[in-house]
Amino acid sequence: MAVDPIAVAILLVLVAAALAYFVFASFLFGAGYQPTPRAAALEMLRLAEVSPRDTLYDLGAGTGALVFRAARVYRARAVGVEVEPIRVAILRLRRRFGAAADRVTIHWGDLFDLDFSEATVVATFLWPGAMQRLRPKLESQLRDGARVVSHCHPIEGWTPEVHDARNDVYLYRWPQAGAPATGPATGGT
Ligand SMILES: C[S@@+](CC[C@H](N)C(=O)[O-])C[C@H]1O[C@@H](n2cnc3c(N)ncnc32)[C@H](O)[C@@H]1O
Repeated sequence: MAVDPIAVAILLVLVAAALAYFVFASFLFGAGYQPTPRAAALEMLRLAEVSPRDTLYDLGAGTGALVFRAARVYRARAVGVEVEPIRVAILRLRRRFGAAADRVTIHWGDLFDLDFSEATVVATFLWPGAMQRLRPKLESQLRDGARVVSHCHPIEGWTPEVHDARNDVYLYRWPQAGAPATGPATGGT
């Protein structure tokens, strides 16, 4: 059977466009797609001491490297927030067929429009500009005792309790020393 080279070229262009969209479209919102490496994801959950008493928000949940592990292994309530619709569909499929569906919530939307004041743990893997935009939101919404774990990029102006350089994971605790506790509630979980 003869293969039409033009059809092949069109197909390749479409596949490349779909891939480029999947990875790059969310640049407009704060970060493209790159899953947190397994070792870093494990370290984020370990450093944050995630437990069944926690509500973890992954701000920019991607395809769920953190959300499902937090719910399945650590038995936390996990909320994944994601702006890019194909990844949201993947997250919802994983939730539908995964082991801990009752503890996972998937929210399709922009994390900057979200109220995450119920979070006891916030996880991020966003770009520096988005981390800067996020900082005042964290400061106004986090409750006392909440932990923030970030892969790759620190929160400028905050002091990490731990920086695991090998996995490039930062652990922060709110309130920061010297900062007023402006969060909505006290007492953590
Ligand atoms: C580097 S990936 C991290 C993925 C995920 N946290 C993980 O552990 O695999 C960043 C994700 O944040 C999402 N994102 C970027 N800006 C966002 C925004 N403003 N609101 C919600 N999600 C956003 C992107 O679509 C992308 O999936």
